[in-house]
Amino acid sequence: MAQRAPVKLGVLISGTGSNLQAIIDAAGRGELRAEIRVVISNRAGAQGLERARRHAIPARVIEHRRFPSREDFDRALAEALAEHRVELVVCAGFMRLLSPVMLAAFPDRIMNIHPALLPAFPGVHAQQAALEHGVRFTGCTVFFVREGVDDGPIIVQAVVPVLPGDDEERLSERIRAQEHRIYPWAIQLFGEGRLAIEGRTVRIADFPLGDESLALVNPRSPHSPRLSRPH
Ligand code: GRF
Repeated sequence: MAQRAPVKLGVLISGTGSNLQAIIDAAGRGELRAEIRVVISNRAGAQGLERARRHAIPARVIEHRRFPSREDFDRALAEALAEHRVELVVCAGFMRLLSPVMLAAFPDRIMNIHPALLPAFPGVHAQQAALEHGVRFTGCTVFFVREGVDDGPIIVQAVVPVLPGDDEERLSERIRAQEHRIYPWAIQLFGEGRLAIEGRTVRIADFPLGDESLALVNPRSPHSPRLSRPH
């Protein structure tokens, strides 16, 4: 079978860009067959822009404030992404809601990552919301962007335990480590043509099952094994 060409990415950022870095690194290690064609930030000072430049990736700033409406900003974004022949748009800490203009320009080809197990705790401060709710597990979710807030078909999730003594920072750090694993993986699945959206469900061809298919208990009971097998 002929190998597919690397998937052409446009990464949208607003800040630190640690997920962008994880994507760059995964591609560098050969775990992700992708070419980042452009990084676009809506904020001039975003640290992620420096990361892009360090790796000789075209980096652009398109400030949302310069546009009279969300739709006008999105049109400029879509044009820039098209100029760079982007196939998949990857939101990585991009703090703007996309309008139908962008969704129509890249139908089912925009991904985002959220620091919670959606549909729990959508929106901002998801880690703090999880702490306040007292959940034993939270995590992160990669999904296809739809019109609602953090409400698209789910591609990959990672489960992260909440531990005694956690504050927002410690929990966020534990979640971020998993974000950096699952975002490149979700993009790779897309690049391999293995994702099919049916309604709000994503079907994955050759679904790989591993130890992750086992149930997790937190806190662990002394009477049960660390992982319990599904019946
Ligand atoms: C991550 O926590 C991600 O889940 C959320 O924004 C944050 C981005 O972090 N959407 P970074 O800019 O990739 O470091």
